[in-house]
Amino acid sequence: MPALTFSSVSKSFGSSEVISDFTAEIPDREFLVLLGPSGCGKSTMLRMIAGLIDISSGDLLFDGRRVNELEPRERNIAFVFQSYALYPHLTVRANIAFPLLMDRFRWWQHIPGIWSIERRRAMRLPEVARKVAEIAEIMELTPLLDRRPKTLSGGQRQRVALARALVRDPSIYLLDEPLSNLDAKLRSQMRIEISTMYQKVGKTFVYVTHDQVEAMTMGTRIVLLDGGIIQQQGTPTEIYERPANAFVARFIGSPAMNLIPVEVAHGGVRIPDAGILPVSDAPVAAGQSVTLGVRAEKIALAASGETDSTGTSRSSSASAPRRSWGSGSGMRRPRRSVPARCATSTTRASPVRSTSPSAIRARSA
Ligand SMILES: Nc1ncnc2c1ncn2[C@@H]1O[C@H](COP(=O)(O)OP(=O)(O)OP(=O)(O)O)[C@@H](O)[C@H]1O
Ligand SMILES: [Mg+2]
Repeated sequence: MPALTFSSVSKSFGSSEVISDFTAEIPDREFLVLLGPSGCGKSTMLRMIAGLIDISSGDLLFDGRRVNELEPRERNIAFVFQSYALYPHLTVRANIAFPLLMDRFRWWQHIPGIWSIERRRAMRLPEVARKVAEIAEIMELTPLLDRRPKTLSGGQRQRVALARALVRDPSIYLLDEPLSNLDAKLRSQMRIEISTMYQKVGKTFVYVTHDQVEAMTMGTRIVLLDGGIIQQQGTPTEIYERPANAFVARFIGSPAMNLIPVEVAHGGVRIPDAGILPVSDAPVAAGQSVTLGVRAEKIALAASGETDSTGTSRSSSASAPRRSWGSGSGMRRPRRSVPARCATSTTRASPVRSTSPSAIRARSA
């Protein structure tokens, strides 16, 4: 049974719909990345999963059970907010311990006055102290445990927020751009920490980011959103290799996929000023305009006069782009066949095969 099921989930603020018809099934123990540009609705999705905002229409299920009306505390989730949401009057130690105290406290222990006495007492319990010390060590927060959030840098605060989420044992972890304020080095370190933590705890993670590198390196599954609409969902490899449309092709990969307007011709596609590129199974009839997508690493240079697997003879017309790619001993040998993708902005990608010089010319144009 999937851990998370979204059935036509939509969210509107007033008359503006920010999530439309979100449908997905997320198997247990996936590391799901919600990916997309700023404002596409990633945090809104996470807040609906957490129960912090209502779902306007559709159903959300945890392990097959509808949770639309459940209170956040009934959902057994841990949430790392984009804005940290630390308690300013509590130390780092108390902030990290906070979810552990909430899990064990009864109603009367929340009464003001009693709460601070009970909190101090609970903080000294060996199992609480041990868990806090353990997670602080992993997050490199041990020297900061007695400081208050306002004395910490943005990156340190973010690590405290992460530690607070990871200290508990929830069924789902929700993380909203948890690494956005860290420098490049710490960011890549923390990516590894979170991935290790994910493997260790064996729970479902939902991780929001607009950084496709983060998504590709951390996620076991990606849902790519634009304007509140799912553009594609699948494994990182599926999305990279078979982008569903031009938006996905542009968004995923660094450098981005080259998108070249071409016209379908008999036996291939006509690239402006470059001739016919042979295509094994063009998706539409000859004469139609489509967009040819080619990943840079799928292109190899061939020596003049060599023949590729399609039987296309190479001509000296490749000489100009060759110069722009380097020459002499640095030149790569051609591959026998080079897969690429051909897609229009509305149709699914279809495979093409070629190493013809015209592809190389088109790439350098
Ligand atoms: N409470 C609200 N009232 C009205 N509109 C809202 C509210 N919360 C979010 N929105 C709108 O919903 C859209 C999606 O916002 P959301 O915060 O989910 O985007 P995001 O993908 O997380 O962006 P970012 O990457 O910048 O954090 C935005 O246009 C935002 O202005
Ligand atoms: Mg956001």
